[in-house]
Amino acid sequence: MGLPTGQTVPAPKETRMTTPINLAETLTREQTLELEANRLHERLAVVGWSMLECELIAPLTAEINALKRRLNAVVLAHSYQTPDVIYGIADHVGDSLGLSTEAAHTDAEVIVFCGVRFMAETAKILSPGKRVLLPAPDAGCSLADSITAEEVRELKRQHPGVPVVCYVNTSAEVKAECDACCTSANTLAVIEAMPGDELIFVPDKLMAANMQPHTKKRLITWDGSCIVHEDFGEAEFRAFKEQYPQAALLAHTECMPSVVEMADMAGSTSGMERFIAAHDEIKQYLLVTECGMTDKLKVAFPDRDFVGSCVLCPYMKKVELRNVLQAMTAPRPKQEITLSEDVIKGARRALDKMLEIGRSERVK
Ligand code: 13P
Ligand code: SF4
Repeated sequence: MGLPTGQTVPAPKETRMTTPINLAETLTREQTLELEANRLHERLAVVGWSMLECELIAPLTAEINALKRRLNAVVLAHSYQTPDVIYGIADHVGDSLGLSTEAAHTDAEVIVFCGVRFMAETAKILSPGKRVLLPAPDAGCSLADSITAEEVRELKRQHPGVPVVCYVNTSAEVKAECDACCTSANTLAVIEAMPGDELIFVPDKLMAANMQPHTKKRLITWDGSCIVHEDFGEAEFRAFKEQYPQAALLAHTECMPSVVEMADMAGSTSGMERFIAAHDEIKQYLLVTECGMTDKLKVAFPDRDFVGSCVLCPYMKKVELRNVLQAMTAPRPKQEITLSEDVIKGARRALDKMLEIGRSERVK
């Protein structure tokens, strides 16, 4: 498969995505909004946003950016968020591992998480003293929703003494039952760091199937999958490959093994970005992941061409500028992450192991 061979690209720092306008008191509101609309259009035009659309969202992004300063808040956004969130209000954009690291180290008092629930919970576990707001409280994840803490306890009863690794796409309660977490940016390294010759790996059966050929350890798996990545089929990408023979195929490791095997690189969303940054000579890409990633990369690499299909994650798309603003001004109880001390303590152990191993993704 297109997994791990070749050079490791050094980890760039997660990029600061906004240069929010400092609302100088000398500017009128109209001037401020005009500047904000221009700033947005500069970034978003490449993904088809008109000046009028930018003018319409400028009052929202300007207000959110002003609120961030007032509340000492930081906005963390996953790469699957829409471009208005990524380029309009986010301070840091990245993959699950990068955002976890940001959450663990931020000086801000409030973390606003533009992503899904398991990500915001991870931020709370890593920064329990901070307020963590999740604008879309019902933003779940088919992987995280596929397994409960009781089901993990049952697996441990069936396989006593066998270490348990969970993908970060799990609830805080599930994490508290596990020995280590991993993300798509360090799956194999975390598997290899576990003692013994077998381990329980939950909940992503496709990611487990993609890792099994690369480890001697026997992986005991669970029947979970990502509704976005499981949708991509091998036949579809064979057809694209025929149509665009020059294009490099980059696939997320949540995809089916038959798709991952065809890929020039397989890994995390940040791994895809690193691959593109490291390959100036490749001008065309087929991305096998959620649509938001393609938009983000179109803005970041305007000289490259992105072809093929993408699938929307309905959970990630629940975040909108309006619910971010509402959560920052008058959060509803469900928008504020609260976890018991016991869960935080247990899950922290598993997450610390993941952070200790860090990014360990080899990008061809
Ligand atoms: P990464 O961004 O960590 O690769 O994960 C992708 C994903 O599916 C998150 O929901
Ligand atoms: Fe979950 Fe898949 Fe959506 Fe990521 S893309 S949040 S794994 S359903």
